[in-house]
Amino acid sequence: MSLIAELEKLIPDLRTELIRACSLQELEQARVACLGRKGSLARIMARLPELAPTERPAVGQKANEVKTRLTELMEQRTAELEALEDARRLSGFDASLPGRAPRQGSRHPTTLVIEEICDIFQGLGYEVASGPEVEADYYNFEALNMPPEHPARDMQDTLYITDRILMRTHTSPVQVRTMKSRKPPLAVIVPGKVYRRDSDLTHTPMFHQIEGLMVGRDVSMAQLRGTLTVFLRGVFGLETRVRFRPSFFPFTEPSAEADISCCICGGRGHSGEDVCRVCKGTGWVEILGCGMVDPAVFESVGYDPEEVTGFAFGLGVERVAMLKYGIGDLRMFFENDARFLAQF
Ligand code: DAH
Repeated sequence: MSLIAELEKLIPDLRTELIRACSLQELEQARVACLGRKGSLARIMARLPELAPTERPAVGQKANEVKTRLTELMEQRTAELEALEDARRLSGFDASLPGRAPRQGSRHPTTLVIEEICDIFQGLGYEVASGPEVEADYYNFEALNMPPEHPARDMQDTLYITDRILMRTHTSPVQVRTMKSRKPPLAVIVPGKVYRRDSDLTHTPMFHQIEGLMVGRDVSMAQLRGTLTVFLRGVFGLETRVRFRPSFFPFTEPSAEADISCCICGGRGHSGEDVCRVCKGTGWVEILGCGMVDPAVFESVGYDPEEVTGFAFGLGVERVAMLKYGIGDLRMFFENDARFLAQF
């Protein structure tokens, strides 16, 4: 290698050494090895007399350039390391310690339940649908067979934005939106946030619901029962028993509520001497509302009730998560305590 090439190579070599040097002491060693009296620059210069006199000035000039650059590099790195050592001394912070891995997040139990339920229904051929949280009175109530003076509106404490615009109190308005925008047959599952003017130990002003709707020719109550039984056993375990009780909703006729055998006490109603706190000793817990779509709802979306029938159901997601994971306090869902969330 020519002396000029050897001189040029000193620059990348020193750079590498400077990156390796983590303290001012190591930096000084690097300086001596390169720029010191017996360093690599000096050793190259000691061979100058080997050259023909005509070649010497060019090499000498190169040596000066390289030396200036090497000195600059040294000064830069010295300043950096001095600043680091100052910071280290001031804060007790040691930049050479290994880093701490960022904590990995986990999915919220509400999200997990929504995903699991949507997965089950997608497996049964349902599509996931959604609708707005700020909703028209018409979709939330009127088209669901609850005209302005209907007493069923009292069942829900509504957050109104204006006289006719409100925060949806349930996911059922998406039934109406879906039917208005499509032709039967259809099957949708609708997860989403809902809002009610309610806030105490067991109620929060916002919570999540999942709505289901199936419409077609000859859709029957038996299919409703079969579908919901498969779904509830999928979520709560195959040993879960399901029962249906008659109920009332303005948008379904007939209407029912479904109960599952209590997954906390296994449906026994007690554990040892103690009455089960979740099912209060009955062995059953209420889990969802459902029914056959009321002909009046079909009429308001322009479907012919003589041609099609359908079933619908709705349930609260946090309630499902509480039962499934044994969470005793609804507030846990909204506090975002990382120690709680990390358990799912
Ligand atoms: N929307 C009802 C509620 O918020 C739940 C519900 C009941 C939905 C029966 C339905 C249904 O689709 O058929 O309490």
